[in-house]
Amino acid sequence: MFVTVFLLLVTFCVQGGNGQEESQRPGHVSVVIVGGTGDLAKKYLWQGFFKLYVNQVSSGNSFSFYGGGLSPVEKSTPVLFEILKSVNCSKDVSEERCALVKEQFLRLAQYRQLKTLEDYQDLAKHIEKQLQEEGMVEAGRLFYLSVPAFAYADIAGKINSSCRPSSGAWLRVVLEKPFGHDYKSAQVLATQLGNSLKEEEMYRIDHYLGKQVVANILPFRKENGKFLDSIWNKHHIERVEVIMKETLDVKGRIPFYDQYGVISDVLQNHLTEVMTLLTMRVPTNLSNSAEVLQNKLNIFTSLLPLGKHQAVIGQYRAYQKEVQKELNKTKDHVSLTPTFAAVLAHIDEPQYDDVPILLISGKMLDERVGYARILFKNDIFCLQSHNSVHCKPKQIIFYFGHGQLQYPAILVSKNLFKPVLVDSEWKEVTEHQDVTVLGLPISDYYVQTPVVLKEAYAELISHIIAGRRNNFISNENLLASWDFWTPLLTSLASSFPRIYPGGVDNGDMLDVSLKGRDIRYINEVVIISPDQVGGQSTNGFQVMQGKFRSADMVSAWMEELVERLATDIQEAAEAAVRKGGVFHLALSGGSSPLALFQRLALHHFSFPWTETHVWMVDERCVPPTELESNFYSMHEYLLRHVKIPYYNIHPMPVQLNQRLCVEEDRGTLVYESEINKLVNGSSFHFVLLGVGFDGHTASLFPGNKMNDHEKSLVALTESPVKPHQRMSLTFTAINQAQKVALLVMGKGKHELITQLSRVKDNPEKWPVTGVKPSKGSLVWYIDYDALLG
Ligand code: BG6
Repeated sequence: MFVTVFLLLVTFCVQGGNGQEESQRPGHVSVVIVGGTGDLAKKYLWQGFFKLYVNQVSSGNSFSFYGGGLSPVEKSTPVLFEILKSVNCSKDVSEERCALVKEQFLRLAQYRQLKTLEDYQDLAKHIEKQLQEEGMVEAGRLFYLSVPAFAYADIAGKINSSCRPSSGAWLRVVLEKPFGHDYKSAQVLATQLGNSLKEEEMYRIDHYLGKQVVANILPFRKENGKFLDSIWNKHHIERVEVIMKETLDVKGRIPFYDQYGVISDVLQNHLTEVMTLLTMRVPTNLSNSAEVLQNKLNIFTSLLPLGKHQAVIGQYRAYQKEVQKELNKTKDHVSLTPTFAAVLAHIDEPQYDDVPILLISGKMLDERVGYARILFKNDIFCLQSHNSVHCKPKQIIFYFGHGQLQYPAILVSKNLFKPVLVDSEWKEVTEHQDVTVLGLPISDYYVQTPVVLKEAYAELISHIIAGRRNNFISNENLLASWDFWTPLLTSLASSFPRIYPGGVDNGDMLDVSLKGRDIRYINEVVIISPDQVGGQSTNGFQVMQGKFRSADMVSAWMEELVERLATDIQEAAEAAVRKGGVFHLALSGGSSPLALFQRLALHHFSFPWTETHVWMVDERCVPPTELESNFYSMHEYLLRHVKIPYYNIHPMPVQLNQRLCVEEDRGTLVYESEINKLVNGSSFHFVLLGVGFDGHTASLFPGNKMNDHEKSLVALTESPVKPHQRMSLTFTAINQAQKVALLVMGKGKHELITQLSRVKDNPEKWPVTGVKPSKGSLVWYIDYDALLG
């Protein structure tokens, strides 16, 4: 009965509202919010659709609105109407007009139970009947899925099989994040949705893209290109920050939040989107969605991978109790879900080489504020006049809202340039309150703000109706983003977040420092006690010296160990350069030395690279451009970051005559004669080796006939794992060296270390036991994980 009355009124409104001939009638749009009485719908969506209705009703479009849900009509209809009654008009609409349109809007809406396929079929029939009865041309159908993501595929299937409009009208299905919780799940979801919907029918919402300041980043960059083009690069940018601080906790949302945590909840989407808008190439045509999305995608492909050292995580103290309560867990249940994360990203492009990009967000922090800041380098040194404008920080801030300023704005410090306004929807602010924004009084900035403040969801809803896709997430971008974040999530899965009290009491607990590519809390809280390292005294975090297989051993936690090894190499280098003006260093491949390479590249600026020759201990028979190539990783992690002359770099010649490791090409002899020619007595100053799980070292594997290459310095060998063919220094070359270091790290090597501590020398079975420098020294560098398990 209730519904029928509404329908009659709809008919009246639509016909009376535009009163045009059918041929001239604009199309009719049916809007269906699935989850129409849920939280998001209540807070933002209905308000957004109401705004759309207010704006479009005068332009002649007609609408009907359906709030869908699992509960029966009798139960949810009153709930829906309570929500609808609370929608507001913007300030520029008179009270009278507002009351009128609100009444019309209410008449156009109804609740529908949307549970079974029949329910969706009934809805489709209802829409068609209405179109027919009222002689309306259909423009399209918009389904807004405001439901948990696990329900998407099923609903999309039902929409596909029963609710597609007839040809000529569009179907648009709006999806809310989370779109998966890692790369794999996002891919599964994408495939499931792809079975029912075409990519162009899906609108994946990230509400940050609807925030006015965020939506204005690209237009701002474009309009101000004449100022920005020359400074938007590594030579001028000190740092990029994308920050979203919140004061609220997640009480009431734990069943959702505990599965995701801050990284998946906001960094993977909102903060990443902002970062890409700041760093992507500005599209030549901002309204060309394909170009916008492609340029964004390009940034993803240039992001350097994130590892454990590129993030710190925290959890507010009360979180554990909230989890135990909301998930019905006992007191000993521990959740490792982070509610705070600070991540340091880098883009591997000449424009942004080594520019730190900080992404930070957290719950229960001291203030609610969101902004992105580009901090520029300032090459002026102020001896006295610190208050002069040229001494102050140079920065551009995209201020999303809240915080000190309380309104969205773009701020450019006055010592940079005076920005132009993007369009008439923005105005300059010249009357300021007395506030300071990120270290500068507001009067030190040029400030621009939107003339009319608009809500993000309302903005995006109007884009969906207009079919503008550039402020939505494409499937490709989504997967690229998960591809970037998933390895970090995996590596942090068993990490303990730092516990913080919440609010102002956090003090400096969450402050971070950037060390090269690594990020750390400024105050290290050491929680590891001696008993956690197997009862042996390790002097807390210090380096321990001892013996292993009758040779010297240095042991420490991984970071300290790598630092110690880097320092030892540097000392050897300095000594060799002092003595003979040159240092010959031979480096192994594999994963263990990567941390060392990074350390040498980033922390050892005084290393005598100009006098250093870098040789290879071994190489896989693949082209040097392949990820598997040892030279490739040596280049990526070390060589391209240091000032070493090209002619001092000696890759192994595995590729000659356009083929790989063919005996007749005599690559081994080529390398050997290069060593003989340049290295005094063919005795390297320092050889860095690792040990494989099977006891191999360099590319000398168990079972390889070591005697075959008795006198040679270089040999072709066979590996039991792919790629099988290798080139390697022989024991002859290794044992002639002045210093040999054997680096072993990680829990996975504990068993091997235990075995090696017991076995006798047997190079055929345990090749590493054949490392016995004849005149030089051998030192084992073993981290606590490998040593103590
Ligand atoms: C949501 C997250 O997407 O964004 C929330 O799920 C977060 O955890 C919210 O609070 C922040 O949005 P805004 O617009 O208030 O900054």
